[in-house]
Amino acid sequence: MKFFLLSGSLRKGSFNLQLVKAAAAILGGQNHEREIHSLGDFPLPVYDGDFEEKNGVPASAKSLTEKIIAANAVIISAPEYNGGIAGGLKNAIDWTSRLKPHPWTAKPTLLLGASPGAMAAVRGLWHSRVPLEVLGAYVFPEMFGVGKANEAFAPEGNLKDPAQSEKLGKILERFTRFSENR
Ligand SMILES: Cc1cc2nc3c(=O)[nH]c(=O)nc-3n(C[C@H](O)[C@H](O)[C@H](O)COP(=O)(O)O)c2cc1C
Repeated sequence: MKFFLLSGSLRKGSFNLQLVKAAAAILGGQNHEREIHSLGDFPLPVYDGDFEEKNGVPASAKSLTEKIIAANAVIISAPEYNGGIAGGLKNAIDWTSRLKPHPWTAKPTLLLGASPGAMAAVRGLWHSRVPLEVLGAYVFPEMFGVGKANEAFAPEGNLKDPAQSEKLGKILERFTRFSENR
């Protein structure tokens, strides 16, 4: 299986980037192919129909779309902003939706989230489901959030709490089966 893992944050020190790396490490142990990116690798202007009419869809949206199409499954770790989807991620989804075909139809997609707050970004994940499901992605019913993310990762990049790490591993196992059988 080929997984495309995306941090929905642009920040270099992003906890969501740490979480996709931790997930990728678990999948690597099962010999899956993985490509990890941060949203910062795909710089995009805020969607504007006039911009699109004049310039077309930006190359970085095309590149992001190609990577999603090339993967068997997508894993996104998304920050929560003010209880909802972070603007950068919504904007990237909007840009990818302007390509024909767009990459989301029937794409198995798992949502993770990390936040220094206690609520683990989970409210934001419910919002992130909406545009993805509208576009026809097969968003996995289970989601996984890491709260107190500023304390959650060991220097090697794994989750410090063995129970939390095991839970992530189990979700990844079920998501892999779901993606293989879709
Ligand atoms: C505008 C803004 C709104 C935020 N709203 C929330 C929120 O509703 N819930 C939450 O848990 N954290 C919130 N945070 C804190 C983020 O979870 C925190 O900045 C986190 O580190 C972002 O993810 P990252 O580390 O991957 O960049 C907010 C941060 C910003 C800048």
